[in-house]
Amino acid sequence: MKADVVLGLQWGDEGKGKIVDVLAASYPLICRFQGGPNAGHSLKFEGKTFVLHTVPSGVFRKKTMNIIGNGVVLDPIIFEEECRAIEKMGVDPTKNIIISKRAHLILPTHRIIDAASEAAKGKSKIGSTLKGIGPTYMDKTGRNGLRVGDTLSKDFKKRFNALKEKHKEFLKQFDYKYNAEENEKQWMKSVEYLKKFTIKDTEYEIANHLKTKRALAEGAQGTMLDIDFGAYPFVTSSSTICAGACIGLGISPTKIGKVYGVFKAYCTRVGAGPFPTELNNAVGEQLRQKGFEFGATTGRPRRTGWLDLPALKYAIMVNGVTDLILMKADVLDSFDTIKVATAYVVDGQKSNHVPFDTYSTIEPVYKEIKGWKKDLTKCRTEKELPAAFKKYIAFVEKELGVPISIVSVGPDRAQTIKLSKRSR
Ligand code: GDP
Ligand code: IMO
Ligand code: MG
Repeated sequence: MKADVVLGLQWGDEGKGKIVDVLAASYPLICRFQGGPNAGHSLKFEGKTFVLHTVPSGVFRKKTMNIIGNGVVLDPIIFEEECRAIEKMGVDPTKNIIISKRAHLILPTHRIIDAASEAAKGKSKIGSTLKGIGPTYMDKTGRNGLRVGDTLSKDFKKRFNALKEKHKEFLKQFDYKYNAEENEKQWMKSVEYLKKFTIKDTEYEIANHLKTKRALAEGAQGTMLDIDFGAYPFVTSSSTICAGACIGLGISPTKIGKVYGVFKAYCTRVGAGPFPTELNNAVGEQLRQKGFEFGATTGRPRRTGWLDLPALKYAIMVNGVTDLILMKADVLDSFDTIKVATAYVVDGQKSNHVPFDTYSTIEPVYKEIKGWKKDLTKCRTEKELPAAFKKYIAFVEKELGVPISIVSVGPDRAQTIKLSKRSR
């Protein structure tokens, strides 16, 4: 059987968590493949909202097992906090979460390095979530890191101390005050909590599972924040694209099935970096307020802008998207006209290409579309969707060359509409 993939096509926060929670009803296994607690995936059901950071979004589905893959970086303190909150929802996370031995650990000193290096960047800072993501992936590729499986070894504390000392040496280059031991006691306690979970070679677990059943891989962040394909250096430190699911779980590319590309009907971005369709005006503010665009992890206001088709086409290309999922269209309900960027003018030349650098000037070319001016949040079936909205869907599908198979019209599980093939 195949592993289908859910990933973000924009700058994160597209609504991946909601969609994975919805799809998890029909997948026995959900596997998170990269990122760490920089992610905030919101789920809403039965009147409750829940934000997940490290835990896969299938955790509240009774018949679903969840794997934290080798590509994920895990902070034991944040993981414990998250799991304690899940316990309060009446779910025992030790029973439905399996963690890869190969997932790397975020140490307290990784977070300090993140903060020190961001502070040193001054005006050119990336706007990191300061969860220690970059420094942990640096240690992974630099072959210095500690992994979840290492917590089971006798000399773990010794190895922890050795890495902490390395970090202290590294931190000497920064003029930054810190206390390396501040969170260490809690961190070690949380490591003991972590050991209550099944810690395994999850690549075998997934391969065995796929012999008879299908699985869903859950991405974090978005394609435009990918370490290779985002606007470097204003990116995260992992492979957020579809190939990242193979690397971050140990799945062969031939086992990948559908690739669900999740995107909002407009764009948002948290942190610094290029954002061609950004609206620094009242319309942008309207999108922020109506879409409640404030970070699920940091609470920071998200930057907002119109839908960017050249960036979406790029994301579809690098991911091999087979199915599009349109989120938050309801946020545009009250707009008389909606703008969509159909091309760029890059350094004065009309273009459809996303430039590799961050210093090119990009001017979007917009098409104006008439708004549907109807409340979508109450729609539950395709039939109920207003004709003008269907026209908008058809326009976006035609431009992108990939069908939209699901539209989301509100944060709740129930506010999700599967589109028939016929109407596309
Ligand atoms: P993720 O990181 O991709 O999982 O997305 P986030 O959870 O960070 O951000 C998406 C936000 O939009 C959350 O607050 C969701 O509850 C909310 N949301 C998801 N889908 C919809 C939708 O269709 N309409 C509206 N209005 N909100 C939505
Ligand atoms: P989810 O999974 C939106 C952004 C940060 C910053 C850059 C680098 O909820 O979509 P990092 O902490 O990774 O070093 O930050 O990436 N960023 C996100 N933006 N959604 C996310 O995750 C993000 N994770 C990181 O704001 O600009
Ligand atoms: Mg998020």
